[in-house]
Amino acid sequence: MDAVQAPIIPVIGEFIRQTPGTISLGQGVVHYGPPAAAIEAAAEALGDPITHEYGDGAGAPALVERIEQKLRDENGIDVRRGSRVMVTAGANMAFMHIVFAITEPGDEIILPVPFYFNHDMAIEMAGCKTVRVQTDAHYQLDIDALRRAITPRTRGIVTVTPNNPSGAVFSEASLRAVNALCAERGIYHIADEVYEYFTYGGVRHFSVASIPGAEAHTITMYSLSKAYGFAGWRIGYFVYPAPLADAMSKSQDTILVCATMIAQVAAIAALDVGRQYCEPHVRELGDIRDIVRAELSTLAPLAEVPAADGAFYVLLKVHTRHDPLALAERLIREHKVAVTPGPAFGMTDGCYFRVAYGALQKQTVTTGIGRLVGGLRALLPAGAH
Ligand SMILES: Cc1ncc(COP(=O)(O)O)c(C=O)c1O
Repeated sequence: MDAVQAPIIPVIGEFIRQTPGTISLGQGVVHYGPPAAAIEAAAEALGDPITHEYGDGAGAPALVERIEQKLRDENGIDVRRGSRVMVTAGANMAFMHIVFAITEPGDEIILPVPFYFNHDMAIEMAGCKTVRVQTDAHYQLDIDALRRAITPRTRGIVTVTPNNPSGAVFSEASLRAVNALCAERGIYHIADEVYEYFTYGGVRHFSVASIPGAEAHTITMYSLSKAYGFAGWRIGYFVYPAPLADAMSKSQDTILVCATMIAQVAAIAALDVGRQYCEPHVRELGDIRDIVRAELSTLAPLAEVPAADGAFYVLLKVHTRHDPLALAERLIREHKVAVTPGPAFGMTDGCYFRVAYGALQKQTVTTGIGRLVGGLRALLPAGAH
């Protein structure tokens, strides 16, 4: 565990607690809760004895069936072509199962940088090695660099689209290229699609597992945490090649046994409400994103914000030699605004901050961004960085 990076969110959280009145653009959460139908279903389930018992490891059959239908209708993934679904306590747990199932200690998994920090942590915890591969200036995938990073120990390449922390939506062509590369080299393409509904300006999300033949080497993770305001209910799921079923059930049985029964009942009701539940929220986030980008663009040439068409993040590049964690602490203590420093996402070369705008109302985000812009200008006066 000493080799694993410490989670950054609690560190920033502690600075925030010590500085009352801080606006947090730190944690990646949404500001809304689950659909009313999900809460009603959970309330009803309290009286059902099944709620209090262990359930199927793969997930409650009714939920698995509902998920399979969703995968078919929305993602173009037909599980009858040789895939299985497993319900987990969130997509983080799905990733842990995947790492255990496809690696031996010492194996490598490729993460395009910037990466989602818990992916890096899970890989290292399993005794494997994260191989970091840079993306381009717009945080898009660099296929040649990914190809060059593959070694005999590589077991998979992870893509997170829409991306945490950059907000980038990877192009369909680049995702197809990664998927083909994985097929060619006999490794897995691990696709994190937890932000699938969060795209803006008409940009479309593409699920790689919909490519005919991809089911044999593609594992895709989803979550209800963001789309349905379900973070505390801990429900995620993933779809994976059937030959991995034994390995997945060993991991699931050891770590979780089964996802919380009442949360699974709530999840069925949420999926019945469907993606339309989060659409108005996504539209609202789109407006907030426009404000965030417009305000941050006034920081040029001190800082730049590459285009980001998805999730609810932007990754700000600040042209300074200052240490990002020290700067993040000063932004909190002196300017009452919190952002997440880049090293947590593997951005160690330069000064980057993730700005998360999903957790707050429009007015609060606007005030927070104003503080961030003012704070960076005050801390990094022109010519002095
Ligand atoms: C890219 C990505 N994957 C997975 C997760 C984990 O989600 P869950 O709450 O389903 O574990 C998150 C949460 O922030 C995330 O950003």
